[in-house]
Amino acid sequence: MNARTLLDDLAEVLVVPSFTRMGFGLRRRLYGWPDAESYPMTGRTVVLTGPTSGLGREAAGSFARMGADLVLVGRDAGRLERTRTDLLAEVPGLSAVAVVADMASLSSVRAAADEILGRTPRIDVIVDNAGTMVPTREVTPEGFERTFATMVLGPFVLVSRLLPRLLEAPDGRLVAVTSGGMYTQALPLDDLAYEHGTYNGARAYARAKRAQVALVREWARRLRGPGVVANAMHPGWADTPGLEASLPGFANLVGGQLRTAAEGVDTMLWLAAAPEARAVSGRLLLDRRARPFDRIPSTRLSAGDRETLWREVVALTGEPDPTPRR
Ligand SMILES: NC(=O)c1ccc[n+]([C@@H]2O[C@H](COP(=O)([O-])OP(=O)(O)OC[C@H]3O[C@@H](n4cnc5c(N)ncnc54)[C@H](OP(=O)(O)O)[C@@H]3O)[C@@H](O)[C@H]2O)c1
Repeated sequence: MNARTLLDDLAEVLVVPSFTRMGFGLRRRLYGWPDAESYPMTGRTVVLTGPTSGLGREAAGSFARMGADLVLVGRDAGRLERTRTDLLAEVPGLSAVAVVADMASLSSVRAAADEILGRTPRIDVIVDNAGTMVPTREVTPEGFERTFATMVLGPFVLVSRLLPRLLEAPDGRLVAVTSGGMYTQALPLDDLAYEHGTYNGARAYARAKRAQVALVREWARRLRGPGVVANAMHPGWADTPGLEASLPGFANLVGGQLRTAAEGVDTMLWLAAAPEARAVSGRLLLDRRARPFDRIPSTRLSAGDRETLWREVVALTGEPDPTPRR
């Protein structure tokens, strides 16, 4: 450990200096990073969920400027088309297709995956970014608890179905956007649908994010042979419509120190594009560095727990197990 990583780790332990823009500024100065948009993505195709707002919208602009071809996956056809049109105006010559999918609906995600496979000859990066906090417990028409369906089951189906195309890429990468909020909660493997206890939207969100990270670790392990890397990152606390909607007044609470959306997506872009990030897999990152999976020992999921979760999710979605055969 050197002085730089010591300072970085100290900020991380204290949470607030880490998650706010103070943490981003500190680390950028400590490590002297190149700008994330300086990594070229020309000729590579990025499938990005949730591009219509906040971090996803910011990332879509960055990927476009980096030269990537985009597959924009959003739930509202109008908002999605407006996003695509705006991006085409911002980055002339951009290739961007829009595909509608409600991540909470497995049938919608399956139809979207078919459409993507039909319209996109290659997929180099999948960014699982769409997410939301659902204040009261809801069950989708397909019978799933909505938070878990949106951030765990839907993304699992999307990645499973797109995997054959991702495996063809010379440098395939999967990036999942999680939340530091996951540190606060354990994932009850016997109650994934949150049927027991009083539902709390923030807790359901944290549980789903923890499940998402556990699955990323399983993806990383199962895709090691074929050479696709899979990582989760969390953006810290970034100023987006989603954060304001789910935690109104939070910006004041942290003294106006929320990150900008660009600061929030920096590690997502780095994981998707930087040559050196190819060496990283199965990790949870903030600010281009792997961070702990747990801060509270009782929230830890063992390797066996993660395998159990994988099997449960395969069973719930009804997908064939997507693990590539050796
Ligand atoms: N901002 C932060 O500080 C922060 C911190 C930790 C984690 N995150 C995570 O970062 C990601 C982006 O969040 P954000 O802050 O940018 O929020 P946001 O501004 O609300 O954007 C969320 C995006 O996800 C899409 N989305 C939500 N539910 C969907 C569904 N069922 N199907 C398809 N798309 C759906 C939204 O689409 P619509 O435009 O149609 O609503 C929107 O494009 C989320 O996963 C969030 O949990 C954010």
